[in-house]
Amino acid sequence: MSVDKSGERVRRMFGEIAGRYDLLNHLLSCNVDKYWRWYTVRKVRPQGSSPILDVCTGTGDLAFAWRRKSEADVVAADFCHPMLVVGNRKLSNLSGSLPSEGRAGEGGAFRDMSASNRDGLLFVEADAQELPFPSDTFQIVSVAFGLRNISDTDRGLRELKRVCQPGGHVAVLEFSMPTCYPLKAVYGWYFRNVLPKVGQLLARNKQQAYNYLPESVGEFPQGEQLADRMRTAGLSGVRYYSLTLGIATLYVGKK
Ligand SMILES: C[S@@+](CC[C@H](N)C(=O)[O-])C[C@H]1O[C@@H](n2cnc3c(N)ncnc32)[C@H](O)[C@@H]1O
Repeated sequence: MSVDKSGERVRRMFGEIAGRYDLLNHLLSCNVDKYWRWYTVRKVRPQGSSPILDVCTGTGDLAFAWRRKSEADVVAADFCHPMLVVGNRKLSNLSGSLPSEGRAGEGGAFRDMSASNRDGLLFVEADAQELPFPSDTFQIVSVAFGLRNISDTDRGLRELKRVCQPGGHVAVLEFSMPTCYPLKAVYGWYFRNVLPKVGQLLARNKQQAYNYLPESVGEFPQGEQLADRMRTAGLSGVRYYSLTLGIATLYVGKK
């Protein structure tokens, strides 16, 4: 039976763990998730001042990484309100430490959209399958550990491509399963047996977020299969980079 990825279930599940999401993320990955985002913003280099969009942003860690790396405005979108509340709190704490303080207020691309556009970073509540942005807007559109959660993967990919500027890049960072033995067996065992129990114990949520994780990763396309789905969505020159022995993969395509 396939995993239930209905918007309502996914939104509720992340809503329940929002307050502990960052802690669990860093703990369960031994902080390697920070390296994966660091790698992403170096591999897909922002250029110029056109805005960057990070969808399924959660508490915004990749959006913050883009903002630290470039002078461009960054929009961080997610459909789970409690995750955005945590993200906005982090933004308030960081206020002033991001590049070009006050830039958004002086003429950043999205200054009129919300009062919470501080330091060139704006959190927006939006479904990745129906983004409230005009076509051809962003120089980079990214999604980290989120595409797998979108109920219709292909519709999500088409939407990411739509809002990307011609010549711009769509970057997908996603979990994958190592393919080489014995790591495949050891990691598979950890991922299916240890991680869900520890995650569930610490998160204590009803929607079983940490059982959902290995289930959703297990049935999600990876490697060439996901690259093909990106090509079908209309992206070209799709490449992918295996990270940390294949535990995560970064996919990059051009519009
Ligand atoms: C595993 S978290 C990833 C958060 C963040 N990108 C990171 O790297 O930690 C997945 C996020 O995707 C969001 N999400 C899932 N489906 C979505 C959709 N259709 N539209 C917008 N956000 C969605 C969830 O609310 C959740 O915050």
